Amino acid sequence: MDRIRIVGGQQLRGTIPISGAKNAALPLLIASLLTEDRLTLKNVPNLADVNLLVRILRNHGVDLAVDGKRSSPPSHLGDTIHLTARDIVDTTAPYEMVSRMRASFWVLGPLIARMGQAKVSLPGGCAIGTRPVDLHLMGLKELGADIDIDSGYVVAKAPKGLRGAHIVFPKVSVGATHNVLLAAALAKGETVIENAAREPEIGDVAVCLTKMGAKVEGIGTSVLRIQGRDRLEGAIHTVLPDRIETGTFAMAVAATGGDVMLEGAHYHDLKTALDVLAETGASVEATATGVRVSRNGGGIEPISVETQPFPGFPTDLQAQLMALLTRASGTSVIRETIFENRFMHVQELARLGADIQLHGDTATIKGVKTLKGAPVMATDLRASVSLVIAGLAGEGETVINRVYHLDRGFEQLERKLGACGAEIERLSSG
Ligand code: UD1
Repeated sequence: MDRIRIVGGQQLRGTIPISGAKNAALPLLIASLLTEDRLTLKNVPNLADVNLLVRILRNHGVDLAVDGKRSSPPSHLGDTIHLTARDIVDTTAPYEMVSRMRASFWVLGPLIARMGQAKVSLPGGCAIGTRPVDLHLMGLKELGADIDIDSGYVVAKAPKGLRGAHIVFPKVSVGATHNVLLAAALAKGETVIENAAREPEIGDVAVCLTKMGAKVEGIGTSVLRIQGRDRLEGAIHTVLPDRIETGTFAMAVAATGGDVMLEGAHYHDLKTALDVLAETGASVEATATGVRVSRNGGGIEPISVETQPFPGFPTDLQAQLMALLTRASGTSVIRETIFENRFMHVQELARLGADIQLHGDTATIKGVKTLKGAPVMATDLRASVSLVIAGLAGEGETVINRVYHLDRGFEQLERKLGACGAEIERLSSG
């Protein structure tokens, strides 16, 4: 297994191109199941999660071609992928695949909508919490699917197709909103989703579905109104920039000091997190080409934050913010309200000398003067990148084990940070 070695203490200076958003690319790739025509997606990041989903889609019968590979140095233009689901040859998504990536469960809605049946493995346990799928099933049942659970699989049938419905989610869920939105695009009549997630990635999918012929109103609000179509068409769509990658690099610059241009980033998709970063003492500026973040000389101010669905502070940046606050000039408090067990990075940050107390959903972080490098273990995607930030801001050598977690969601991480002066390298196992 690969490891990442970091020697901390360098400031970050330069430009980092922001990749296409993983959390938009995944549902957009899944949208290809809704049409027999060709869907072309541009700016798709080259990530382990994308590659796994591609294998799942191929298994359903999706034909896939990738345009010529990118040239170096890294560009934020990503891959162009053409997907054609002319014939869906298999409506089963097996456990071996779905259990490795939760978002693959979102094939359920599109498969029922297009084929009138689907058998998709329940995603199973996950390191960051129980993550049930009750809201997904509730929404799809309201669209007329008949759903049973059998031997760990969701078996869904809608022989006469799905029909529009009025769905009120009792809780905000990104995944359930995607699943129902995708299915509603091929349902008869109008679907209204109340208390829909408002994440920009949902908006990106809604825009793509509109290009494919569905009509989606209320994009960016918590009430989505979807006019389904009997048949959707092909489209060409560019994946929006990754706000979590943007926020991660922004926190890294705030932690190490320096000045970095995050090229292609969308300021407004990340405003809450960037405002929080500014409260810690970093300078954040929206420019014509992206977001510029710097911290020159000043200290890191302690703060209190809680994670919330969009437009609140994203849970996907909680670990990275904590890494930054380990060196603040006082005590900070972070409350995690989305996932009950998303604090695995705390123990690993403690190995570098961080002082963090956990009480239920709340972490209290007492700033320390310095962190000292150590061997650490990546536990999940966002937790592992918080260790990269801590390692960059600490003294001496940090080696991060189980780097495959990072490869699931960060494209060319070492290369992007290395180009800004970080001493970081991948130690290859083979
Ligand atoms: C998505 C993101 C993930 C992010 C999360 C929250 C992708 C690929 N993943 O995950 O990066 O951390 O949103 O912003 O986009 N819940 C239920 N029942 C359900 C579904 C969810 O109780 O049927 C709960 C979950 O356990 C969790 C909360 O709702 O406590 C939010 O989860 P959800 O928004 O669904 O997260 P994901 O879509 O899995």
